[in-house]
Amino acid sequence: MRIWLIGMYGAVATTAIVGAKALEHGITPDTGLVSSLPQFKKLNEILPLEFEFGGHEVRSLSFNAYQAALEHWNLNHHYDFSILEAVKEDIISLHAEKGTAINCGSGISEFEHIETLESSGYSLQEIVDKILSDMKHFKNDDTVVMNVASTEPTLQLNLEYHYTIDGFERMIDEDRKEYATASMLYAYAALKLGIPYGNFTPSCGSSIPALKKLAIQNGVPHAGNDGKTGETLVKTILAPMFAYRHLKVLGWAGFNILGDYDGRVLHHNDNKESKIKSKDKVIRKILGYNLYTITEIRFFPSLVDNKMALNLIHFEGFLGGRMKIQFTWDAIDAIVAAPLVLDIARFLAFAKRKGLTGVIKELAFFFKSPLDTEVYNTHQQFEILNEWYWNTLKHSEHVENNE
Ligand code: NAI
Repeated sequence: MRIWLIGMYGAVATTAIVGAKALEHGITPDTGLVSSLPQFKKLNEILPLEFEFGGHEVRSLSFNAYQAALEHWNLNHHYDFSILEAVKEDIISLHAEKGTAINCGSGISEFEHIETLESSGYSLQEIVDKILSDMKHFKNDDTVVMNVASTEPTLQLNLEYHYTIDGFERMIDEDRKEYATASMLYAYAALKLGIPYGNFTPSCGSSIPALKKLAIQNGVPHAGNDGKTGETLVKTILAPMFAYRHLKVLGWAGFNILGDYDGRVLHHNDNKESKIKSKDKVIRKILGYNLYTITEIRFFPSLVDNKMALNLIHFEGFLGGRMKIQFTWDAIDAIVAAPLVLDIARFLAFAKRKGLTGVIKELAFFFKSPLDTEVYNTHQQFEILNEWYWNTLKHSEHVENNE
């Protein structure tokens, strides 16, 4: 299958590219890949672990994918160097296309070596045409676009331009750049071309009403938002425990510190806001009541991609006894994220093959802010994913047998 990565030279994207090629060569086990679990093994027949990549970038466009991966490796040493060398020939000729960073916030504008279509003087229509042409050139029947670009600021929905397909296209036509963000333009192009779209970031992407309608109209599956890889994964596994045992959570504080490009971008308040919202709301959704929470993200350069999340949970039990749990998540962000990027892409390509359209809410398991569902409990989400996969498979086998 083919994966088009928005943010192709980032830590998550390059780790996904290197990991996918290493899997293809059989030089790394499939640890961390949910879609390789025994219950999904038929997926290997439908969509073997063979990937081709392309993508958009706005930084270091003179690089190739190997140089981009090497840049992150030099900072993080996040896997054995021999793996990068073993896949070098596969990725050295891969180059990202120039993309757009329209309204992507102050975090992005501070990058060195940034080049965007808008800085070359393109109108919205020209930006969209260029993105459409890049994706069209790359796509085959099993292509998925994955957004792994830096997090954008929160979007205020506009009644005129964000609710209908006509309105959205009028925004492009009238060059109303102030209402567009990069992630929605990439998502529009993907859905317009019938390519499934997965949003690994909290940016709006395909989640605005106009684009949800476009996905239905064009018969394309999509899913998001914001990959659930670390602290929030633990939160959404732990919070149900308090609910099951009728323990009252009084307060939950989480402090995240990370370096790298992602940390630099999230240090900016405008870019950070959407991420904090995404991480913070899950506890209330699972527990069903209001409680005092702190969710903070700070830049800590020396950690590079080794994100640490320190959590304190204060809770009350029988007879009003007050107790605490503390946990520290200390993981390499790209290592926990990269396999999920491949997983989401595989499940979306599977959904497309099986004729499913619109938001695939059963992929909620992979996201912090899942679209079109109120199920935030990771255990329940995993059951839903299993059931959806088997029902979809059984249904299509039934149809094939009756044809
Ligand atoms: P990164 O900063 O290393 O990579 C992002 C890449 O996107 C950079 O190379 C940047 O130049 C590029 N970019 C930024 N705006 C762009 C645009 N408009 N068009 C094309 N390219 C653009 O970040 P990392 O660590 O790879 O994370 C990627 C995204 O995934 C971030 O939004 C992050 O918040 C999100 N995410 C990451 C998780 C994890 O690493 N465990 C978990 C959940 C979400």
